[in-house]
Order: sequence, then C-alpha cells, then structure tokens
Amino acid sequence: MTFRTNLTAFCFILLTTVAQADIVTPKHNAVASAHPLATKAGLEILQAGGNAFDAAVTVASVLGVVEPYSAGIGGGGFWMLHQAKNNKTLMIDAREKAPAAATRDMFLNKKGAVDRDLAINTALSAGIPGQAAAMAHLAEHYGTLPLGKTLAAAIHYADTGFPANKVYLQLAKVRHSVLQRYPASKRLFLLDGAEMDIGTLIRQPGLADTLQALAKDGFAGFYKGDVAKRLVKGVQAYGGIWTEQDLADYTVVERDPIRFNYQGATIWSAPPPSSGGVALQQMFGMMSQFKYSDMNEADKTHLLIEVMRRAYRDRAEYLGDSDFVKIPLNRITSEEYLQDLSDSISMAHATPSSSLGLPKQVGSGTHTTHFSIIDKQGNQVAATLSINLPFGNGVTIEGTGVLLNNEMDDFSAKPGSPNAYGLIGSEANAIEPGKRPLSSMTPTFMEFGPKDNRQLAVIGTPGGSRIITMVFLGLLEALDQKGIQSWVDRPRFHHQFAPDVVQYEDDAFDPKLKAALEKRGHTLKSVGREYGDMHTVRWYQKNGEVEAASDKRRLGYAEISP
Ligand code: DON
Repeated sequence: MTFRTNLTAFCFILLTTVAQADIVTPKHNAVASAHPLATKAGLEILQAGGNAFDAAVTVASVLGVVEPYSAGIGGGGFWMLHQAKNNKTLMIDAREKAPAAATRDMFLNKKGAVDRDLAINTALSAGIPGQAAAMAHLAEHYGTLPLGKTLAAAIHYADTGFPANKVYLQLAKVRHSVLQRYPASKRLFLLDGAEMDIGTLIRQPGLADTLQALAKDGFAGFYKGDVAKRLVKGVQAYGGIWTEQDLADYTVVERDPIRFNYQGATIWSAPPPSSGGVALQQMFGMMSQFKYSDMNEADKTHLLIEVMRRAYRDRAEYLGDSDFVKIPLNRITSEEYLQDLSDSISMAHATPSSSLGLPKQVGSGTHTTHFSIIDKQGNQVAATLSINLPFGNGVTIEGTGVLLNNEMDDFSAKPGSPNAYGLIGSEANAIEPGKRPLSSMTPTFMEFGPKDNRQLAVIGTPGGSRIITMVFLGLLEALDQKGIQSWVDRPRFHHQFAPDVVQYEDDAFDPKLKAALEKRGHTLKSVGREYGDMHTVRWYQKNGEVEAASDKRRLGYAEISP
C-alpha cells in the first residue's frame, strides 16, 4: 500500500469516526417495496413495535403472496442486514442449493446440447429453496416478534386473495403456456382460463396453510414434516430430484459482506455466491483511477461502459459459490489489479470485448423483487429475493401452494451455452450437488456524503444480469447528491462484456451522446423497454430525517411512518 492510500484511509477513518459521534437515529421508519400491500404491512409491524428485521419478514412474505411471479417461499435470496445495537453488518445467504442428486450435465440432451425447456420450465430446474429458512432465521436471531405475527398479513392475503394488477396480468401472459402445463398453477394463477382483469382476486389457500405451518413450527414447518413430504412427492412426480434429506439439510449462511471505500463513501454489498458486491468493488476501484467528476457527459458514459465491461468479464471467469470454488477475491479486488484493468481503458476508443479474452455472452432478467427498510433504531435491511424467471419454473406443488423457482438455470449448464439471461459461466459456476448458483442480486448499503452531512442509503433492484449496473448507476446518483427519486428513476444503460453491445433504455442517451459513443466504437442496442424495479431509503445521519423512493417504472410503493 502506498503512502497516499494510507493517508486516504487514515483521513477516511477520521472522517467517519467524527461523523459517528454525531449520528442522530432515524426519526421515522421507512419501507420501499414493489407492492403497496407489502410496504403497508411492513410499516404496520414497525408501528406495532417490531424492528426492521420483523418488518423484513412481513414485507418478504407479503411480496411472496401478492407478487407470486417474483419471489416467495419456493425461492431464495440475499438479505443484507445492519444491526444498530452492535454496529454489525452481515448478509444472510438464503440462495437456493442444488439437490444432492444434481449432476453437472443434468440439463443436457442426448446430443450434448442444453435442453432449455428442461432448464427453466420443469421441476428439475428448482433448487432447494432458502426463503422460508431465511425468515425463520431472521425471526430467531434478529427479530423481536414471533412468526405468527410477522407472517399474519401474508397468510391473510393468501387466504382471502389479492387483486391482480397490471404487472400480474402482463407476467401471467408472458408465462401462460408454462403455467398451463401444471394443474395447480393453472388453477391458482390463470383461474383455469377464466377471464382475468385488474382487480380480479387471486387466492392461494394452500399457500396460506404452508405459511401457517412455517409460523407455527419455524424451519421444521417447511423443511420437515408434512409440507416437506408433499413438496418432495410433488417434485418427484414432475420428474424432479428433491429428497426429504435435501430439505432437512438446507441451511442459510451468514456471510461477511463485500466492503470497500470510494471517495469517502463506504459500500457494503453482497458477497459470493452473488457477483454483485465484487463487481461493484471492481467498477468503483477502476473509476477511482480517473477524475470522473471533472469529465463531460460522453467521457463519463464511456468510462462507465468500460468499467462495466471489465467487471462482467471477471464475473464470468472467476465467480461462483465460494463454499465450492476458490475465488481469487483478494487479487481481483486489489488496488494493483484494478489499476492494471483501468490502465487498459482507452478514453478515445471502446475496447472490443474479444481483445480482453473469454468470449462470453450475457443477457438480462425479467423478474425478482427488492425491498429496503430502515427503522427508528437505525437497523437496516436490503433484501433482493427471487424465484428467477416470472412465476419461476411454473410448477406449483399441490397441497402446498408453493410455486417453485428455476434458479438451477443460474448455473452454467454447459461451458459456452447461455442461460435464460444469455449468461455463460465458467467451471466456477458448474453444477455440483449442494452448490449455490451464481447470482447477480446486489442488495447494498452505502454511507456517504460530506463530513457534516453523512447519509446512509439502502438500495437494490431486480433485473437479472443488469441488476449490478443498475445499482452502480443508482449509487452514482446518490454520490452526486441527487434527489432520492432520481436514484431509482434515472435512465439506465448496461454493458456486460458479452455480447459486446451497450444495452440502454430509450431515454438514456440523447442523439449527441449516442453519436459520441458510436464514434468511439460502441455498438448501442436499445432494450426496447424500461427495466428494473429499484426501491431505496435514505437516512440523513445529522438530523435523523429519512426518505424513501420506489421506481417509477413499476407499481412499487415507498412510505415513511409519521
Ligand atoms: O440471481 C440472479 O441473478 C437471478 N436469478 C435474478 C433474476 C432476476 O432478477 C429476474 N428479474 N428481473
């Protein structure tokens, strides 16, 4: 480490120590999530004396009911937590695990090609879910209320129904043919073909019973006993390979977040098996070699594209489940390494991805969910949860109401063969029994701002492989001291190494900027629609004020308690 970096680190410690002495706890509770019913239920739990971790269980469980297409107890996710009383920041890794009978080539057909339908639309594509275990873990170790209370709202909406909204109708249409294949899904989510409109009630009584079992018996209510037996029987009847042992063996893992500094800010984000934190650290690390804030718009955009390209290259090459593969984390996040990477950036020309080696192809996602919470004690939760594609693999197990994930498709089923997002991975992300598939989910905290106005952001979004660059762009808005709504609303663009194109929302570049980027050799490709659904909260630590914002692109809802 050079003298300069030592000095920077010293100044930084001084700055945050001074700031910590002045912290004023939040004056309000704040919740931002993808659905008003979930946000409101979370705030009610907070008002009733629960903390942010209790509210997280409530928000996640309600989202699992009212957004059956995004995340639920048939899926998994990552929960970043900050516990104020002991200043502890950690991540609960509740990512799905490959069943014990999983094999490397399980999605290959006789010709050795990946059977895409098998990999996303069947019981075989479901990993062992982590969501219910995460809720039980949160309740046991971090919350103050029993699951009977925190799951009550979800049980109510599962039992009595929730009104379909336009996102529901749109995604049920996208996955119509798959949902139709499985009788319980057809009945529950397509109402057996009856006409559905905005406001049509969707009831899930089986799911209400399963949530009751979780409320009553905690982990065992889902992973052992009746529910577990039904799940295994149902999965096997559809050709899947789960066993009761797989369920009983599932555990969440508490992991240390990726933590790094960028220009006086501290960022905590998801470690492997997510690629989010490492990619953020690499992108910010490369940026710190440039005078970003002095640049014009074209230079800034070019630089962001180039750092995205390089981080996604490393994602493809090095990242996987760190419990199974050795990730050279220290090396690929070291200052020397990131300096080398940034030295390869030309400000005049786009670097062809092929010149960086490893021709890999990557794509984008369509559903998952994120919420952000802060409570009056200063506890924080950033949770990104998923069943992968909209309505997961489309399989609902009779007698449980559990709609299964297709997260096994986040593994690299065959070197060089793209998954649903066009992602191609390396050996590091090959299928192995008990392993967790590599993810892009990036729940994140950032402490930032000038010494006399330190702020704390809780942020994240769904969006498949584009999640990481969305969070990156959102954090940059925050670092620029932009209003919180612009963190989530700002137009987005994305580069993921391969395909070697800049993907963008139509309003991201004006004609002049487009021309400037094309002149440098970038190939621009409109995504043709808006993407992402970001939800965030901010706490001003100098006076305890809080703010919350939900993405304008969807139907999310952010609220602050009085
Ligand atoms: O873990 C992942 O990276 C993916 N399963 C996330 C999928 C996703 O965000 C789809 N959403 N829009």
